[in-house]
Amino acid sequence: MTKKRIYILATGGTIAGRAASETATTGYQAGAIGIEELLQAVPELKEFAEVQGEQLAALDSKDMTADVWLHLANRCEELLANDEIDGIVITHGTDTMEETGYFLHLAVHSDKPIVLTGAMRPATAVSADGPMNLLQAVRVAVSDESRGKGVLIVMNGTIESAREAVKTHTTSLDTFQSPDMGALGTVQDGEPIFYRQPLRRHTKASAFSVQGIASLPRVAILYAHADDDGFLVDAAVQGGVKGIVYAGMGNGSIPVRVEKELAEAVRKGVIVVRSTRSAAGRVTKAETSYEEHGFIGSDTLNPQKARILLQLALLQTTDKEEIRKFYSIY
Ligand code: SIN
Repeated sequence: MTKKRIYILATGGTIAGRAASETATTGYQAGAIGIEELLQAVPELKEFAEVQGEQLAALDSKDMTADVWLHLANRCEELLANDEIDGIVITHGTDTMEETGYFLHLAVHSDKPIVLTGAMRPATAVSADGPMNLLQAVRVAVSDESRGKGVLIVMNGTIESAREAVKTHTTSLDTFQSPDMGALGTVQDGEPIFYRQPLRRHTKASAFSVQGIASLPRVAILYAHADDDGFLVDAAVQGGVKGIVYAGMGNGSIPVRVEKELAEAVRKGVIVVRSTRSAAGRVTKAETSYEEHGFIGSDTLNPQKARILLQLALLQTTDKEEIRKFYSIY
């Protein structure tokens, strides 16, 4: 049987991290090892796919930028339009993997698998998790069952949707979880096994496009806390934001003083989305005053994902009702 052709785009991260000793699992340099060395460390890849690698970036993913996202989305579109490429695996730092994944989930239009993977231990560590994660990501990318499921995150034997996956632990190998919906599947002895599929719109069905786009609208995330008087709202507005995601308490609750500031921001043309600092759950309409101000609930999107949807929405429209609809579709 002919093997599928999987293109690997490397962007850096701990999977390409180099530490001073084999026992060091923190305090290393992320993104230090190139794609060729990463591929050489997993010769088993060749048993399952024809792989080709490209170094697209070499970042610690805390330094991920919209420029890199736009480049990555355009590169994925270009590669996946090629009949000789069956799927893409992206190696990425775990810190912003969920954000890059969700961005591509909305911005790339293809049924072919796009799988993100990374590692929690640097490549130089004893029992580094990167090689197994990379192998599992490629096994998922060659599976016919991965087609049409949007962007996937494969880490530690679990397959998750980029819409749902969240980094939940600072150092554990089992850091990615999908708190609201659960994982899509698992990888058992190298075999991907799916149990569910995402129903919210993505990839081929997404109306968002970043073709010809040079930058993304500025959207700030403000994080709620006791005694928040909302002074940062005005700072954000003065800074020229087009949108604010407020990571509220519980069900997207906003302290009264902050609510006043956010309502003023809406009057100035800024779109305000209510998300939550809670680890799981849907943000519902809650207070009628929130609706009256025109605030939009983030559904189950955490603040960092709600921000990405707002950035892409703002490329198309500033109509609050249209943007509100996006949060129930995507
Ligand atoms: C990074 O996100 O680039 C560093 C942390 C990691 O990959 O786990």
